[in-house]
Amino acid sequence: MTDEPHVKIFDTTLRDGEQAPGFSMSTDAKLVVARVLAAANVDVIEAGFAAASPGDAASIRAVAEEIEGPTICSLARLNPADIDAAAAAIEPAAKKRIHTFIGTSPLHREAKLKMSKEEILASISKVVAYAASICDDVEFSPEDAIRTERDYLAEAVEAAIAAGAKTINVPDTVGYTTPEEITDLFRFLVETVPGARDVTFSVHCHDDLGMAVANSLAAVRGGARQIECAVNGIGERAGNCSMEEAVMALATRRDFFGCQTQIETTQLYPAARALSRVTHNPIPRNKAIVGKNAFAHEAGIHQHGVLANKRTYEIMDAEAVGMPANRIVLGKHSGKHAVLDRAKALGFNVSKQKVEDIFPAFKRLADTCREVTDADLVKLLTGNAEADGRIGPWRMRKTELHVDMEGSERPHARVTMEHDNGERRTVRHKGEGPIDAAFAAVCAIADVPARINVLDLHHMASEGVVRAEAVIDVEDEQFSGNAEEVDVADAAVAAFVAAVNQAAALRASRAKADATENAN
Ligand code: KIV
Ligand code: ZN
Repeated sequence: MTDEPHVKIFDTTLRDGEQAPGFSMSTDAKLVVARVLAAANVDVIEAGFAAASPGDAASIRAVAEEIEGPTICSLARLNPADIDAAAAAIEPAAKKRIHTFIGTSPLHREAKLKMSKEEILASISKVVAYAASICDDVEFSPEDAIRTERDYLAEAVEAAIAAGAKTINVPDTVGYTTPEEITDLFRFLVETVPGARDVTFSVHCHDDLGMAVANSLAAVRGGARQIECAVNGIGERAGNCSMEEAVMALATRRDFFGCQTQIETTQLYPAARALSRVTHNPIPRNKAIVGKNAFAHEAGIHQHGVLANKRTYEIMDAEAVGMPANRIVLGKHSGKHAVLDRAKALGFNVSKQKVEDIFPAFKRLADTCREVTDADLVKLLTGNAEADGRIGPWRMRKTELHVDMEGSERPHARVTMEHDNGERRTVRHKGEGPIDAAFAAVCAIADVPARINVLDLHHMASEGVVRAEAVIDVEDEQFSGNAEEVDVADAAVAAFVAAVNQAAALRASRAKADATENAN
């Protein structure tokens, strides 16, 4: 046990996050995310906004029925009908919370609600009391708190506490505040509002000016003991405070913040991946904590330092957030140390001289692509490349893409590929669209369980071609492939095949290395 204050993590990925364009989730998708949030041991899951739609209410109920551990919460506007809908949706949960809100800033009062200050205060007293009469755990948010007059904000908070709210959330609805300002505001509320010491103060920041995480942490300095946040920072507009960033900041700078959370940090990366998978939104490679580059090093000086002692350029361990160990990415900035190290990791017993020999070719190759993959390195070390520069055993022979414009049949693709050993395989596959179907057919033919992560297409008007780059995930490893074709679909499929070929080549070389080791 420690005396350090506990900061609750209130996850709103499934509510504020899901409200953002491009992130809506089915009930099944919400359950996938809720399971990983429970594994991460978040304190509260805001599972949706029950009154928003029957579908949202059903999703909240499904989460409340299945998920054990965290408190399950529904959002509700400050009216009895919304409160009833929220209460019904969270009813199956062992621990439940109703989160109710109303705008308090002049803009919200005058332009949106057309209510006076007094009417809003009366409504807070009445409806929060009603919510507290049917649910032990009520949270109240004065929406747009940051742009609300301080004295009036204090009155609204006081009314909610008197009516039975146990958590007071202070939202920066439009992402307008600054760290110094929000620390000061929390201090003011915690120190001056009657009853403030008996409730938990919570912070809810948006990222419009890129300060959501910094502002949330600054609120903790001012007395907040709950952070509302979302996986990968998703949420309205520019998003909410990122859960993984806030949690790792509190953990890594515990010396500074002097607070702790109960988060199982090794679940942060799995949570980010699960959300990315179910919403079809890739995690940006430079995303703090969970992006592909967060623990990757390409520059020679950094690689040398990290290989000698990873603390030279890493303040946390990749494993602490559930990521595979730090990645030394081979590229045009890499040095010989890193090449030698990777060659050894791939099972090659290479001398320094061998690295000297292949280094010029390595640099030439690195100049032409964004990452020299393990498969590229195997090729350089073994001198095993086809005359056309292709790596891997498969060649595309024919692709047919079918889309039924009437919509009666799902899009499908018929793909024929040929292996170096002369075997030809043809597979017909359905998909979300014809290219997705072609990708699935390629995976089936090559027997590589690939998932597309990034597909970049650039139309080079002056050359009359489309340049494609595909990055795929294969069982937690990434491979990339490039292609240039006249047609956009051909370019996408060819780049995907190039990436799958890389994975197939690496698997073959690993199998060979294992066989040699076993034979010895
Ligand atoms: O941003 C906001 O003000 C909200 C409230 C509903 C808490 O999401
Ligand atoms: Zn919000």
